[in-house]
Amino acid sequence: MFARRIVVIGTGYVGLTTGACLASLGHRVVCSDVNAEKVAELSRGEVRIHEPGLAELVREGIAAGRLEFVVGSAGAVADAEVVFLCVPTPMGSGGAADLAVVESVAGEVRDVLPTRCVVVTKSTVPVGTSKRLAEHLDREDVAVVSNPEFLREGSAVHDFLNPDRIVVGSDTQDAAERVAALYARLGAPTVLTDAASAEMVKYAANCFLATKLSYVNAIAELCEQLGADITDVTEGMGYDRRIGQSFLQPGPGWGGSCLPKDTAALLQVAEAVDFEFPLLQATISSNAHQRQRMVGKVREACGGSLAGERIGLLGLTFKAGTDDLRDSPALEVARLLADNGAELIAHDPGLRGDEPELPAGLTLVDDPYQAAKGAAALVLLTEWQAFRTLDWTLVAEALTGRIVVDTRNHLDPDVLRRAGLSWRGVGRTPVTALT
Ligand code: UGA
Repeated sequence: MFARRIVVIGTGYVGLTTGACLASLGHRVVCSDVNAEKVAELSRGEVRIHEPGLAELVREGIAAGRLEFVVGSAGAVADAEVVFLCVPTPMGSGGAADLAVVESVAGEVRDVLPTRCVVVTKSTVPVGTSKRLAEHLDREDVAVVSNPEFLREGSAVHDFLNPDRIVVGSDTQDAAERVAALYARLGAPTVLTDAASAEMVKYAANCFLATKLSYVNAIAELCEQLGADITDVTEGMGYDRRIGQSFLQPGPGWGGSCLPKDTAALLQVAEAVDFEFPLLQATISSNAHQRQRMVGKVREACGGSLAGERIGLLGLTFKAGTDDLRDSPALEVARLLADNGAELIAHDPGLRGDEPELPAGLTLVDDPYQAAKGAAALVLLTEWQAFRTLDWTLVAEALTGRIVVDTRNHLDPDVLRRAGLSWRGVGRTPVTALT
């Protein structure tokens, strides 16, 4: 494999992971960002993103002279062979992806890209973006390639270095092959295709995952009605290799910075071509229903009304192992509880307390027992490992009520029962406290 001169534009979690991992594969990588302060920090090896292994990889890359950080994109691309665009594509009006940043970066680098350089979109972009980008760049000698990422927050470095597959799409075959070659050392199956198909893979995969979760959450609700146990049901389903054991865990609904944005965007794309997609619509509406259903469980635990009740919350991030609150189902359940008049005391090991997204009326405390103190009910919303090993006798002493609502089926009901607490999960029979 030949080491390539790569520029990565944008040092968010996708960009920084891409840059640091490509440097670890032996390439020479320059990461550029508009934020001078961030560039200075990264150049010193200081990484603020909460991603296991990322800071170490950044420092190794810098020490080996293979990774550097610069301000601004135009100066950075001058001798690049491959330029990765890893800039945000937020949800714009009506759910469509907003490509303003992608287009503005393209405008900045258009005239300075070297001949035969390849521009790669790594951000999740609507089908057709590569084509639009090529028109925007208006450079016959520069090819555009779509190379979607499939990284999960909290395991991005691991996912990058151990991919299930590499997807590379371009209408210029040679450019797609050059980008695929960057990953040769990883030995992953590689799908070489056209640009539109590569862009579609990303949406199709994320929307499928969201649909899988909405389906599981609906089956869990049905299990409650029929007296079946979702944990056994999903285990039994998952042994079928066509289904698989992963992504079958019911919860308060799916969230984060990707699945909600991508489901909304694909629906928009479908609407734009008059394609009716009731399956995807139902995936999204079931997810909203799931949050309400969790609120109903807490209301029931409080005896029928939430007004004036003090509720303890364990977890607010959209999943464990991250400090990310974007589109967090836990946060949405918290907001709904607050709207119903509950007083909320929350603990989350990933948060500092100064996050602007935290709803008014919610107090963040730095220990889980404080969150339980004086609460009429305790609600687990994010599956942090530390919550499994709490001293449940201490928790029981702190609570005024007796019920723990476990929206992730994360706790051991038997341990709670022995501590004198009743457990309410999702899709499972409630467990009543030993008296
Ligand atoms: C997701 C995809 O999993 C990645 O493959 C993709 O690259 C990424 O989006 C992206 O587009 O960038 P991520 O947003 O990090 O990754 O989060 P996931 O681990 O997929 O979790 C999404 C949501 O589903 C979370 O709220 C999580 O708690 C929930 N979830 C996940 C469940 O409720 N049950 C499960 O069994 C799994």
